[in-house]
Amino acid sequence: MINIVVVDDEQYICNIIAEALDEFKDCKITKFNEPEHAIKFIENNSIDLVLTDLVMGNHSGEKILEMTLINHPDTVVILMTGYPTVRTAISVLRKGGYDYLLKPFKLEDLKATIRRGLEHQRIKRENVELRAQIELMKVNDALARGIKLQPLINLIVDSAVRVVPAQSASILLRDKKSGGFDLQHQSQIEVDKEISAFLRGSYLENGINPKDKQPYLVNDEIQPNGRLLKRSMIAFPLISRGEIIGILNLVCIDHFSHLSTGQLRLISLLAASAAAAVESNFQERNLKKSYMLTIKALANAIEARDVCTAGHTDRVFRIAITIARRMGWGASQMAKLKSGCILHDIGKIGVPDAILNKPGQLDEEEMKVMKMHPELGVKILSGIPFMEPALPYIIAHHEKYDGTGYPYGLRGENIPIEGRLLSVVDTFDAIMSDRPYRPGGGVEKALNELIRFKGTQFDPDIVDVFISAYNAGSISRAIVYGNGKNGQKRMVLNPV
Ligand SMILES: [Fe+2]
Repeated sequence: MINIVVVDDEQYICNIIAEALDEFKDCKITKFNEPEHAIKFIENNSIDLVLTDLVMGNHSGEKILEMTLINHPDTVVILMTGYPTVRTAISVLRKGGYDYLLKPFKLEDLKATIRRGLEHQRIKRENVELRAQIELMKVNDALARGIKLQPLINLIVDSAVRVVPAQSASILLRDKKSGGFDLQHQSQIEVDKEISAFLRGSYLENGINPKDKQPYLVNDEIQPNGRLLKRSMIAFPLISRGEIIGILNLVCIDHFSHLSTGQLRLISLLAASAAAAVESNFQERNLKKSYMLTIKALANAIEARDVCTAGHTDRVFRIAITIARRMGWGASQMAKLKSGCILHDIGKIGVPDAILNKPGQLDEEEMKVMKMHPELGVKILSGIPFMEPALPYIIAHHEKYDGTGYPYGLRGENIPIEGRLLSVVDTFDAIMSDRPYRPGGGVEKALNELIRFKGTQFDPDIVDVFISAYNAGSISRAIVYGNGKNGQKRMVLNPV
């Protein structure tokens, strides 16, 4: 249905125009002789085209033009006048009027102008719809690629503000503990400083009915620096499993409140994408947590079996993170470090107790079995995507810098950096710890061992970083040796 409003203070002109437009299919024509009534109607209804006289007593058709475009930016407005001037024509077109008809006009010319206007509007709306679909595709593509929650929220908010006539969009998520909503991201289009300051704090946290969970609209007024402006805020609930888990907010200064059906649908879809992302992130975190707990339990089980390694993975992690920081590792590498350290000896689960806890040196056959633990570890964890970051630590922590290590005999920088780092830290901790057949070697011995095998067993750069970290006191702060399980003494390392 096409909604057309005709405004002219001459009743007979309204009637003639309405009759002439009778031939337009699916068209509803509403006539007004009083411009004020027309403005009220336009403010509260969805309108496709307005045909208005330019001069109506004290009232100006330009006011109707402005009010129409404020409330419905894509409505076609055609002005009619019997007193044409170039100045008025330019002013009308500058303010967004579609065309300008000189009275008296032929009804055929009027119909042709309206047809052109409606076609222009159809193309414009299709473009908006297309732009909206592109934004939605971007969001869905990001969701499918498993993008992290925060970047996805940013993308949804930025998309929302691009495709609807709003000046600000934001997403708030419910904090499960407090039950309140926390702002996650807010995006604004370019506005002047005073309005921008108002937009920053403009969003709805309450008001959505938890029963019907419908979008909620608030219209009010603000006065930045004495200017009275209308503000519209609309809150779309993000719903997951029947619960409101967040809010997508849109804010508009000085117009709005009449989002088209297409725009409402788009925002609902963006809100649904945001809700799906939050839900999937929650499930992923739960799954990851549960994987980590299972693996930690496995690692604990190994430590419980292996009398030599009580507390080993924990100490290794605390030293490794200190060294990695000094080596300038990025956030992504640092995030993988913990699982790598915890799981590096997970393959020992497949090594018999008799070998694992043999009170003495292993013979050749036993050593062969022991040397299988990196590959066994990879086998245990392969196919579990969350555990993949740990694989370089597991497979490469017994490789040696000169190529004499195992399982592959990799050399130098062909050994993953994770393996080279862990090799240094793992050895340091092994020398420091008591064994059934010997007591712990002490700091001096452990450090000398690193220096002695620098460049043969160990990456020389990593040994240098280790020594400087130790000299700076970073390692003594990071770890405490001996948790009493094996009668070890509690000892804090001191810098050499
Ligand atoms: Fe190992």
